Amino acid sequence: MESRALEGVTVRRATPEDGAAVAALVLGWAEERGREPLGAASLAQAVEECLNTPGHEVWVAEAGGLLLGYAAVHWIPFPLIYGREGYLSDLLVAQAGRGRRVGSRLLAQVEARARELGCVRVLLNNARNSEAFAREFYPKQGYQERTQFANYVKYLE
Ligand SMILES: CC(C)(COP(=O)(O)OP(=O)(O)OC[C@H]1O[C@@H](n2cnc3c(N)ncnc32)[C@H](O)[C@@H]1OP(=O)(O)O)[C@@H](O)C(=O)NCCC(=O)NCCS
Repeated sequence: MESRALEGVTVRRATPEDGAAVAALVLGWAEERGREPLGAASLAQAVEECLNTPGHEVWVAEAGGLLLGYAAVHWIPFPLIYGREGYLSDLLVAQAGRGRRVGSRLLAQVEARARELGCVRVLLNNARNSEAFAREFYPKQGYQERTQFANYVKYLE
């Protein structure tokens, strides 16, 4: 059954004044999963950088003056694909607002912006053990899993 969309939701580009509320969403997500927050100062710095540095954007969903969710996206010039990639690092909806089309609206906005900027594609990672993966959130929005690529990371001490 189609889930009911939350009414009165506005999706807009974040302003520097949204920084604290975006950070609060991240802290809520850590708490929900029983994780220790990694450090308020580094979180605030990462949010601030996304908000104020060219090439990075944050979009927020708001209702009744409250932030329900946000998306952080990074525009990456990418010679090997002869163009630019939109990399979606964060997509998060507050627990109470999930399943009401807020996340899919934020994602649609990121895609519209990526098209506007002439991006070739939007790329993201989604943990296999997440509810979003289990519920096929991204395939439902038209994303394909790239099983032909290995996803490597090196954590720097
Ligand atoms: C994943 C997430 C952004 C989706 O946003 P949302 O507003 O809950 O999703 P929508 O209401 O737009 O739902 C669209 C589809 O997602 C799925 N969905 C519904 N509730 C969901 C939930 N609680 N978690 C994950 N996916 C959900 C549904 O399958 C729905 O499709 P359907 O209506 O055809 O069944 C949001 O649930 C979230 O923030 N989850 C925690 C953080 C996370 O996993 N982020 C993604 C990391 S890349």
